[in-house]
Amino acid sequence: MFQVKNEIEFQDSYECLVIGMKEKPEKFSGQLAKFDELFEGQLTELVKSGDISAKKKSISKIHTFGKIGAKRLIFVGLGKEKELTLEVLREAFGKAFKEIQMSKLEEVAIYLDTFAGEGMESLDVAHVLSEALPLATYEFEGYKQKSNEPKKEIEKIIVISEDDADEIQAALTVGYVYGKSTNSARTLVNTPGNLLTATDMANYAKELGERYDFEVEILEKEDMLKLGMGAMLAVNQGSDEPPKMIVLKYRGKDEWTEVIGLVGKGITFDTGGYSIKPKDGIVGMKSDMGGAAAVLGAMEIIGELRPEQNVVAVIPSTDNMISGNAFKPDDVITSMSGKTIEVLNTDAEGRLVLADAVTYAKHHGANYLVDVATLTGGVIVALGTNTTGALTNDEAWFEQVLEASYEAGEPIWRLPLFEKDIERVRGSKIADLNNSPGREGHAIMGGAFVGEFAEGTPWVHLDIAGTATTRTSTAVGPAGATGAMTRTLALLVERFEKN
Ligand code: BES
Ligand code: ZN
Ligand code: ZN
Repeated sequence: MFQVKNEIEFQDSYECLVIGMKEKPEKFSGQLAKFDELFEGQLTELVKSGDISAKKKSISKIHTFGKIGAKRLIFVGLGKEKELTLEVLREAFGKAFKEIQMSKLEEVAIYLDTFAGEGMESLDVAHVLSEALPLATYEFEGYKQKSNEPKKEIEKIIVISEDDADEIQAALTVGYVYGKSTNSARTLVNTPGNLLTATDMANYAKELGERYDFEVEILEKEDMLKLGMGAMLAVNQGSDEPPKMIVLKYRGKDEWTEVIGLVGKGITFDTGGYSIKPKDGIVGMKSDMGGAAAVLGAMEIIGELRPEQNVVAVIPSTDNMISGNAFKPDDVITSMSGKTIEVLNTDAEGRLVLADAVTYAKHHGANYLVDVATLTGGVIVALGTNTTGALTNDEAWFEQVLEASYEAGEPIWRLPLFEKDIERVRGSKIADLNNSPGREGHAIMGGAFVGEFAEGTPWVHLDIAGTATTRTSTAVGPAGATGAMTRTLALLVERFEKN
């Protein structure tokens, strides 16, 4: 797929050569001067006339009429060099790849060195380039009898950079794994609830485990009963589909110490239960396993890259349905931890399944925890749909998650978690906790509840209700599932350091 070349040779014939353009007074200086020379100053003229633009998010296509080997030049606008970040580059590459795919070009060359901003490592630029390719060209196939004309895949990309070719090649390979695995997470989220049951999710995890040599454990209903997972079982009570508690273990160290626990909400469809959702709010609830998808996507990256870290992934999976057997508001249930819970709202089911999953992750030795969940509509009200909400009980652990999210280009923002907030989830007259302390601060309450089960273990909660899906297409993907937090979790594991 990727081939690295150390030198730009103007006579080499490519279907197209992709060049990064920064906004600066003298456009065709430095690396680009030679191009203008070969075109006898005509490129400068095209900039003046506005046919070539350096504006952020712009794409300008020029035919070369045989003046150089490449048939076409694609100029990718990067905006001001000072404002250039890896996230801007990821989007710029994404736009370029979409354009190339639409033009049905199968083989392209990219002049990598024209994209790097001041002080940027070309290895990081290579990573975002190869990550952007699968991300931007992703499509969910769907189930139409007559499918769309298959898109031409970009088959070969020649990456031109002066830097060490082996290192660039390695960074390209890693970036591609990150992009591809995010797409796996997207496909899980886009798959409807009837075609992705808890059993299907468990089978998917098993296959992943076989492919990457993970230890796999799938808890069945009977196992959950024995372990006293009353919170998980309550949510599944109204369903005809058996629940699954999915565990994947990756051992990257000799000893099973310093274990990172990744816990992902895997509600395959959320009706709300007896606290039923309104008809407008129920459509789209196939995406209520976005946390599970992110964890499975991250495990795919971990399986490919095999970092020297220990990871246990725990995914509580079931749908949340209504029937004569379903759990009800006012019910009191006992979680695996022993804590009792008064159910005030059956639609606050995510925190219930996460409660037992977090306890089980600790049971498997996790001593650093992250849970990822499409947990609350409240986080969308608070932060919108671009930013994942976070809560924590540990500053240093949060710092590591924040850095990973920054590097992954998946913004998170921390919400407060004070003693008074925690008191609200402890506010039940008849049980230790209640699962819905009222409408104020939903996103905080959801996280605070899960935190009760993390207890003293360093823990970060990521609420992706707003970021797991997008209504509109972006430079790095179509409308629908985004695969949010897949890359953050994998980077967190790769970069993990004991506090
Ligand atoms: N799955 C939903 C949260 C959600 C909402 C995800 C919108 C994606 C988009 C969750 O189970 C839920 O219903 N939460 C309730 C909690 C409330 C009852 C305390 C909510 O946010 O309204
Ligand atoms: Zn719900
Ligand atoms: Zn839910």
